[in-house]
Amino acid sequence: MPKFIINGGAELSGTIAVKGAKNAGLKIIPASILSSETITIYNLPDIEDISRSLDIMTDLGAVVNKGSDHYTIDTASISHTTINEALANKLRASIMFVGPLLARFGEVKFPHPGGCVIGAGLRPIDLFLEGFEAMGASVEFKENHYHIQAKQLRGCNYFFTTVSVTGTESLILTAVLAKGITTINNSAMEPEIVALADYLNSVGAKISGAGSPTITIEGVTKIGAGPFTTLPDRIEAGTFAILAAVTNSELTISTCRPEQLQSLLTIFTKIGIPYEADKSNLTIKKHGIIKAYDMKTHEYPGFPTDLQSPYTILMTQAQGSSIIHETIYDRRLLFTDMLTQMGANIIMCDPHRVVIHGPTQLHGRKLTSPDLRAGISMVIAGLIAKGTTEIDNIYQIDRGYENIDQRLKSLGADITRIN
Ligand code: EPZ
Repeated sequence: MPKFIINGGAELSGTIAVKGAKNAGLKIIPASILSSETITIYNLPDIEDISRSLDIMTDLGAVVNKGSDHYTIDTASISHTTINEALANKLRASIMFVGPLLARFGEVKFPHPGGCVIGAGLRPIDLFLEGFEAMGASVEFKENHYHIQAKQLRGCNYFFTTVSVTGTESLILTAVLAKGITTINNSAMEPEIVALADYLNSVGAKISGAGSPTITIEGVTKIGAGPFTTLPDRIEAGTFAILAAVTNSELTISTCRPEQLQSLLTIFTKIGIPYEADKSNLTIKKHGIIKAYDMKTHEYPGFPTDLQSPYTILMTQAQGSSIIHETIYDRRLLFTDMLTQMGANIIMCDPHRVVIHGPTQLHGRKLTSPDLRAGISMVIAGLIAKGTTEIDNIYQIDRGYENIDQRLKSLGADITRIN
């Protein structure tokens, strides 16, 4: 089983460039099914989740070509509409293929998506299925697969009872070629949704309101295809900013968008972590005492749940007590049990809240990465722990962070990948 071996204590320095956003790439790939023309996608990160998504596309019969700095996807040769079960079990975002296949071919079969273990049970998809039905599709579950059919998708007025990023994106992709107008209420407002809508509009779709709580899609008969450049991954950028703060290193994070990290940087200012930022670079400076500061995750532009676990590591090094309230997922704080084993002083109040008392010295331990964000947080914890930390199940880290051991090594981290 591949693992990382980390020896803590090294001060880091230098510059780290941010890769393309995983959660933008995982939507633009299935979105290409909406057109029979060939799409060109630049700046996709070279990570497991993107590879799985491209594998699903190839399995469907599309032709995927990898260029020097881009991929092309020709969907004209898609030959069937059943999503590969083995691949879907590895990737929750496999659900993003359902809407486009339904919109273009009128039917789709797929298993319950697998992937992250951070949500209730199997990670529900009720809001996706209700969206398809609201647009006139029939949904059946038999032989362990969902079978969805729709002769003609019709526009609908849909209210999300829970804000869902992929739910919002799925409904947009389903509505682009539907007959009539679709209004999405209580939609997510992530920058990746804006990027997706901007691309679709550039090739003939009619979407307005992306980035606001209400999105309107006027169905069109067809759309073309063109170039899409994946925006920098704001979660990777935020993770590296927290890495700098935790290790008290001066690091520059390049090719990022600091304006998308206001929720984190506002807290940095409040707790005593100095930084400098321009349009596409962020330099975190050394700091003195860090003040403990309560944090509550919230959909964009609130504090991202994907930065909750790295922030939790930071609070173990802060002076005083802080409450971390994870409002979106009910299992995403379970990894704090491993931090306690490393010497952190953390009390779990309920599945959504922990209290952290700091600062505490962490000690190296043998750990297992439960999901990609907890996994990278264990790497960060290992970089400040006394002694050696061993992390296995690093597939979960490779899912979201390209070549992470080499990139951290170039900053001076003592991390080794054992295959
Ligand atoms: C996206 O997930 C991201 N994934 C997540 O990133 C990220 O943490 C999240 O947005 C931030 O909100 C991708 O973009 C591929 P959900 P999202 O399953 O919002 C409930 C990472 O680490 N829900 O919709 O699409 C669900 O229980 C990943 O990169 C339903 O109840 O996630 C949860 O409470 C993790 N029914 C909330 O909505 C549904 O049908 C969001 O969960 C769907 C969701």
